[in-house]
Amino acid sequence: MLGSSPGCEARGPGVWPHRVLWRLGGLLCLLRLEGALCLAGPSSSPPAVNNNNNQGVNLYMSLEEVKKFLGLDAELYYVRDNVVNHFALSFPMPVPSDTNRLHFTWYSKTKVDYRLGFQVDNQAAMNLPKSNISNLGEVPRVSSVFRVDLFCSGNADGEAVLTVQLNLTIQASSVSVLNFKRRKYCFKRRQTDTSVRYDDKMAGQDK
Ligand SMILES: *[C@@H]1O[C@H](CO)[C@@H](O)[C@H](O)[C@H]1NC(C)=O
Ligand SMILES: *[C@@H]1O[C@H](CO)[C@@H](O)[C@H](O)[C@H]1NC(C)=O
Repeated sequence: MLGSSPGCEARGPGVWPHRVLWRLGGLLCLLRLEGALCLAGPSSSPPAVNNNNNQGVNLYMSLEEVKKFLGLDAELYYVRDNVVNHFALSFPMPVPSDTNRLHFTWYSKTKVDYRLGFQVDNQAAMNLPKSNISNLGEVPRVSSVFRVDLFCSGNADGEAVLTVQLNLTIQASSVSVLNFKRRKYCFKRRQTDTSVRYDDKMAGQDK
C-alpha cells in the first residue's frame, strides 16, 4: 500500500523536458518581435548546451544566424532531442532584403530519414529556393550545416512568404512535418541588383 499512485507512470513519454520549457520564455520574446523589438537582450538565455546528451534529432539556428536575423544572442532550437518546438516554427521570420542565405544546423545520433521541399506564395517576386543538400536522405550523424539559397525573381516588387518543409521520420511509422516560414521583400530588378551576384559568381567565369 505504500508509495506510488496507480496510473501515473502510464503517461511518461509526453512530458516536456525542463530545458525545453525554459526556452519558451525566450520564444514568447521572439513572437513579440512581430510588432516591436524585443528588448530582453542577452541576459535571457545564453544557453550552455551539452549536445552530447541528445541522441535524437536536433535542428537549430546557430548563435551567429540568430544574431544576424533577430539581433539576439541565442540559439533557436526547432527540434531538440526529437521534441519539436512548435512555437518556434509558428514564427514567420523576416529575412532582410539583402540576405539570400539561410543556415540550419542539425544532427542525429540515431538514423533518421528526411525529405526536404520548398513552397513560395508569391512566385512573381521569388523563385523557388535551392538547398545544398539533396531533397531526401539521412540526417547527418555529426553536427552539420545546410544552406538554403533564396532567389528574388527580379520581375516584381513584393513580399514573398517561403516555406522550407522538412519531413523527418523520427518514429518509424510517423513523419514529423516541419514548416519553416520566412518572409522576405523582393524588389524588381534595376540596373544593379545584388540578387544576381551569386549567379554571376558561379557562372560568370567562362564567358
Ligand atoms: C511531407 O509530408 C506531407 C504529409 O505526408 C506531404 O504532404 C508532403 O508532400 C511532404 N513534404 C515533402 C517535402 O516530402
Ligand atoms: C552547405 O553549405 C554550408 C554553408 O555554406 C556548408 O557549411 C556545408 O558544408 C554545405 N553542405 C554540403 C553538403 O555541401
